[in-house]
Amino acid sequence: MPARVEFCPRLALITGASGAIGRALTQVLASWQPTLRLSLVDRDAAGLAALCGELGERAQAQVADLADPSVCPSLFSAATAWAGPVDLLVNCAGFMDVRAFAETPWDLGERLLQVDLLSPLRLMQLAVAGMPERGGHIVNISSMAGRVPLRGCAYYGAAKAGLLFASQIAGLELAERRIHVLSVLPGPVRSPLEAAARAQLPKTLLTRRLPTGDPQVLARRILAALIRGGSRLVYPSFYRLADGVPGIAERFTRAFSPPARSQPDPLGPSPTRTALDAKAEEPESRS
Ligand SMILES: NC(=O)c1ccc[n+]([C@@H]2O[C@H](COP(=O)([O-])OP(=O)(O)OC[C@H]3O[C@@H](n4cnc5c(N)ncnc54)[C@H](OP(=O)(O)O)[C@@H]3O)[C@@H](O)[C@H]2O)c1
Repeated sequence: MPARVEFCPRLALITGASGAIGRALTQVLASWQPTLRLSLVDRDAAGLAALCGELGERAQAQVADLADPSVCPSLFSAATAWAGPVDLLVNCAGFMDVRAFAETPWDLGERLLQVDLLSPLRLMQLAVAGMPERGGHIVNISSMAGRVPLRGCAYYGAAKAGLLFASQIAGLELAERRIHVLSVLPGPVRSPLEAAARAQLPKTLLTRRLPTGDPQVLARRILAALIRGGSRLVYPSFYRLADGVPGIAERFTRAFSPPARSQPDPLGPSPTRTALDAKAEEPESRS
């Protein structure tokens, strides 16, 4: 069995760093390891600037939209040019949209897969290729929505389940190369993403009573899991049962998870969709 990789990173690349969980984890890592340098990625420029202001010269801000996975190599090369090889990658950027599969426009589903699955995989691939000899760590923030089928989460659940599986397989394969992979499965955790998802669901007893975690507590648990070399973290702990016995959780959600409410398309009309709609509306040519 490969030896545990000691957790003493020098350069972390963290996506979604200005979101609730990403910011909490950045702050926890920064105060735990004062020499750690942090290359922070998000599309929220103001949030990144504020966080980098707190951290000073230890932090590098990279504003990028991960809906385009082709930006990933330049993010990596900017980080390594600044502070050497990345030995801790945290894939935390993500967004969620709760809507019925049949009502999800393709552009929105595709964007979910790009941000929540393809860019994290591309960053993992770059991290593995550039990991130093002494080894390193990868943290992938998946979701309990990738473990249990929830109505309204077809694309989000597919992305998070895909990330979880890739993370587990990479963890098995990379242990020999001293690369440790931690998969994180949060249930609801207070954040703008969680508030927006909650607003897309009808208020039922179940949605009101779901145990909901705190980003700072999750961040401290992620750090503890990294130090002990854990490969899977479920938080809040209440959801460990659903992770361990998905059959029961599936029966429960089939019976009780409410359908998403009908809602407008957040991406609005896109050139592709407008062109496709126009084509669909053309009268059929007669021969
Ligand atoms: N909170 C929960 O209940 C929960 C549960 C399970 C899993 N998770 C996962 O935890 C991670 C962090 O979520 P959070 O709760 O901390 O939400 P959050 O506060 O909304 O943070 C997500 C961050 O990712 C950024 N982001 C979104 N789309 C992006 C894109 N295309 N390119 C670059 N950055 C982008 C967001 O920027 P903007 O603010 O500009 O959008 C935001 O700063 C996500 O992967 C989420 O799926 C959260």
